[in-house]
Amino acid sequence: MSSTLDKNDIANKIDKASSLDKLEELRIYYLGKKGLLTSEMKSLSLLSVEEKKEKGQKLNILKKFLDNELLKKKNIIENIAIDEKIKSEKIDVTLPSRNFFTGKIHPISQSIYKIIDIFASMGFSVESGPDIETDFNNFTALNIPSHHPAREMQDTFYIGGESNEEDRVLRTHTSPVQVRSMLDSKPPIRIIVPGRTYRSDSDATHTPMFHQIEGLLIDETSTMAHLKGCLIDFLKEFFEIDDLQYRFRPSYFPFTEPSAEMDIAFTKKNNVINIGEGNEWLEILGCGMVNPRVLENCNIDSNKYQGFAFGMGIERLSMLKYGITDMRGFFDCDFRWINHYGFSPLDFSSSSGI
Ligand code: DAH
Repeated sequence: MSSTLDKNDIANKIDKASSLDKLEELRIYYLGKKGLLTSEMKSLSLLSVEEKKEKGQKLNILKKFLDNELLKKKNIIENIAIDEKIKSEKIDVTLPSRNFFTGKIHPISQSIYKIIDIFASMGFSVESGPDIETDFNNFTALNIPSHHPAREMQDTFYIGGESNEEDRVLRTHTSPVQVRSMLDSKPPIRIIVPGRTYRSDSDATHTPMFHQIEGLLIDETSTMAHLKGCLIDFLKEFFEIDDLQYRFRPSYFPFTEPSAEMDIAFTKKNNVINIGEGNEWLEILGCGMVNPRVLENCNIDSNKYQGFAFGMGIERLSMLKYGITDMRGFFDCDFRWINHYGFSPLDFSSSSGI
């Protein structure tokens, strides 16, 4: 047998291996396809039966010895690596802790959750529609034909098509979702639609993107009295003021007839607005009985069905409820602002957490 297949020599070499790579080199050196021990095993076939038996036994013992030594050393090397890793990852409990921040719920989201909660309790379900709308849904179906002066009231972002018919707009209000719902489903309909809306306008009380919530109820019997009751209940609950002072004022919207706006009373002391009572009035929403023309545009029989609609700005409601004075702060993405005005995601007392 070759002297290099001496047990002591093997044990020595394996003992000196300092890494798993070196150990693998040794395994290949002895046991690989062309390894020393493998070649010896192959040459057995050239021997006589007697010699084969004797040498075969020795080689087998040697193979077991090799396997065993390699495995032992492998464990040793791996344990050393683990020990070193543990040492290097030791936690120094005397170090000051790192700050960690929890996110806050944006006041707009908080208001939307709250508004949904209130209307859901009255049996309304939530609908949504796309931000990019057809000219038809945003205007024409809502009784605002082209060249109607009401289009001028809403500084529209147009996305031009080949013809007027194909024109797309960034929706200027959430009212087009009324049209979508009426075209897609049959009365009775009772929906609210929170969502983003866009107008080309920017100052302390306007941002080019803002949020509205739309309401629509269509059935055979609902009247202006139901509309009033519904909105009064909503505002009292939203602002959490039982004796909230309000008024309905006649107004004009092409898609409602008659139309009204709702104001709530407020006082202003030291630049702080106090809502609920006082001699001054703040416009809070638009509403009215759905114009029969809109029903017909949406394939609903206006002799059989009627209903009401309303729409309001979520920023305005949030500013009043949470005492926020500049609307631009909503979308500045200033960490200090959201930390101040935001809501803890773990506080479920004032929202449904939807
Ligand atoms: N769409 C109107 C706007 O953006 C708000 C509005 C008023 C919606 C009256 C309505 C409504 O559904 O009935 O100014």
